[in-house]
Amino acid sequence: MQLFTPVRVGDLTLKNRIFMAPLTRVRADERHVAGDLMAEHYRQRASGGLLIAEATMVAGHARAFGFEPGIYSDAHAAGWRKATDAVHAAGGRMALQLWHPGRATHQDLNGGLQPVSSSDKPIRDDTIHTPSGKQPYPAPRPLRPEEIPGIVEQFRLGAAHAKAAGFDFVELHGAHGYLLDQFLRDGVNDRTDRYGGSVENRARLLFEAIDAAISVFGPARVGVRISPLVGFNDMSDSDAPALVEHVARGLQARGAAFLHLRAAKHDAPAEVELARIARRHFQGALIRNGGYTREAAEADLRAGLADAVAFGMPFIANPDLPERFARNASLNPVDLATLYSPGPKGYTDYPALAG
Ligand SMILES: Cc1cc2nc3c(=O)[nH]c(=O)nc-3n(C[C@H](O)[C@H](O)[C@H](O)COP(=O)(O)O)c2cc1C
Repeated sequence: MQLFTPVRVGDLTLKNRIFMAPLTRVRADERHVAGDLMAEHYRQRASGGLLIAEATMVAGHARAFGFEPGIYSDAHAAGWRKATDAVHAAGGRMALQLWHPGRATHQDLNGGLQPVSSSDKPIRDDTIHTPSGKQPYPAPRPLRPEEIPGIVEQFRLGAAHAKAAGFDFVELHGAHGYLLDQFLRDGVNDRTDRYGGSVENRARLLFEAIDAAISVFGPARVGVRISPLVGFNDMSDSDAPALVEHVARGLQARGAAFLHLRAAKHDAPAEVELARIARRHFQGALIRNGGYTREAAEADLRAGLADAVAFGMPFIANPDLPERFARNASLNPVDLATLYSPGPKGYTDYPALAG
């Protein structure tokens, strides 16, 4: 099977094309430091070709969930080092997803600081968990142009700490309606300065963040995740094909390692079209994700629609997912109740195949 052939990503050859998608599991401590439990979780999954670790805050006062990890201090780097060491010792490779939530948070989670975004448009018709219970999302404050270099610097520092933590790659989180995506997509971004309007302008912050990461890791160790057709967090865009073409061209010009396309449903015709556009304009590794089975992943690899496939839910419940795919074994079901609960239950206690 193609899934089990090595794949070139940037300047590394990874052992298979079964990647672990980034999965927020809120198991860090109250200072957002990753610990032994998280190291064990990732170590168990080290047979994946690349483990893309969960969304990790590049700044303080950017908390959206509670116990999500950070990467903005030496303590955060030292915490994550436990995971990268464990994964490397088990023969795996690991990327860190660099994340800023933008408007997708609440001031009550962040010392009273109003969330920031490209515009003042809040996430409509949804609520967020805060210390005082569920609340509607607040209206964010549009970032002033002179504040943007500070955001880019947060991504650079995040990358520097990720490097100190021993990650092989960083993935800029440009998906799911978080800060970089709030600039990318015109359903939210209504700016009239050089960060809004044309797709070139809307992608400017993403590329400034990418270039900041490249200044630390080099282009062959930097990738980006986008989800142009995913509506989560009240997102939309009027021209997803143009967005993908622009991002793909920009990554190509930089020699970036990978483009990670997260689909709502990987086989929807509009998603397949985005994959073809990405292919046409970017020669680095194309990772795709979104509802894949083993068979569907194999089919897309053979059709040239992806170089690797990231699995989310299947990797949560199956630490030995590649082994199960190889043997065509059944998969453990995911326990939804423990996705975001503390401790090892539903995190490090999913069984591997016997024997
Ligand atoms: C519990 C959970 C946490 C997630 N956390 C993240 C995250 O931190 N970053 C991200 O880009 N996507 C995140 N996602 C989305 C997954 O990476 C993936 O795109 C999604 O689960 C679809 O892939 P799948 O069908 O293989 O599960 C999360 C999904 C789940 C279920």
